[in-house]
Amino acid sequence: MTMSETPTVALIGPGAIGTTVAAALHEAGRTPTICGRSARENLELRFDGGHIVVPGPVRADPKEMKNTFDLVFLAVKSTQIEASAPWLSALCGEKTVVCVLQNGVEQKELVARYVPGSPVLPSVVWFPAQREPDASVWLRAKARLTLPDTPQTEVVLAALRDTRCSVDVAADFRSVAWRKLLQNAVAGLMVLAGRRAGMFSRADVTALALAYLRECLGVARAEDATLGDEVPQEIVDAFHRAPADLGTSILADRQAGHPLEWDSRNAVVQRCGRARGIPTPISDLVVPLLAAASDGPG
Ligand SMILES: NC(=O)c1ccc[n+]([C@@H]2O[C@H](COP(=O)([O-])OP(=O)(O)OC[C@H]3O[C@@H](n4cnc5c(N)ncnc54)[C@H](OP(=O)(O)O)[C@@H]3O)[C@@H](O)[C@H]2O)c1
Repeated sequence: MTMSETPTVALIGPGAIGTTVAAALHEAGRTPTICGRSARENLELRFDGGHIVVPGPVRADPKEMKNTFDLVFLAVKSTQIEASAPWLSALCGEKTVVCVLQNGVEQKELVARYVPGSPVLPSVVWFPAQREPDASVWLRAKARLTLPDTPQTEVVLAALRDTRCSVDVAADFRSVAWRKLLQNAVAGLMVLAGRRAGMFSRADVTALALAYLRECLGVARAEDATLGDEVPQEIVDAFHRAPADLGTSILADRQAGHPLEWDSRNAVVQRCGRARGIPTPISDLVVPLLAAASDGPG
């Protein structure tokens, strides 16, 4: 592909985030090939002031795929990467850029093992989107991604140019990714309480959230993220401003009885802390409870 061309794009995982990106591409006349777990006729995205129907079909059999693509977006949960490996093998050649649309700071390591030879680009996904009972997806803010500044980033910029999903390129992507991870880690408290963002208006929850965020901040800095002392308060302030009924994808999974991304969103802080000799007493309480909520037994 030269830079003036439109890349060929496939998307694996047409859930909340995948549907948003597929709809942005479709609206700009660049409908991607959509690959999922269950076959469907189309996808629907709703947002303030409109909706977009993305024609399918959602393909469900990797063996039917005959071509590789310039760009593959991977939008499954981090718990679903291994099960998506047949799709990655079918869709990726050695020139395919795989852009991972997930939370976490380990996206590259988690995915690269399934696509030997293909460059893997991590991203930060900033927008909340939720699956609705009628199978549509509700996009609750402007769609926006942050990507690292690498040569492979060009193909994502070309695919999403002039779409409703904007892309920022960060020179210090590591710090941006850790900042988002702090936000994700503290959102995990919603799972333990079984409540949405409104719970952060409680003074006791605010105090707990700040203490947990300061613990995460210490680990993030040890991992070379450049984040200031103000970050915990800024993240809590954002939860205070959020609609009281705003959830988080890990809470949606808990309420649906699905496996949780506790390892990539919470245990990573404990793991990195241990490796660097940093005590993580709040993680030591939060992580086993999230793990048990996700995986049992009991
Ligand atoms: N939702 C948000 O607001 C939000 C915001 C920022 C970041 N994120 C992150 O973005 C990532 C995706 O989250 P999400 O909320 O979009 O998840 P989701 O709604 O559960 O979507 C995952 C999609 O992947 C599909 N899938 C599962 N296993 C598959 C397989 N083996 N092959 C192909 N497709 C498969 C699922 O199929 P089914 O339809 O069969 O379940 C579903 O369509 C997560 O890391 C999440 O933490 C989410």
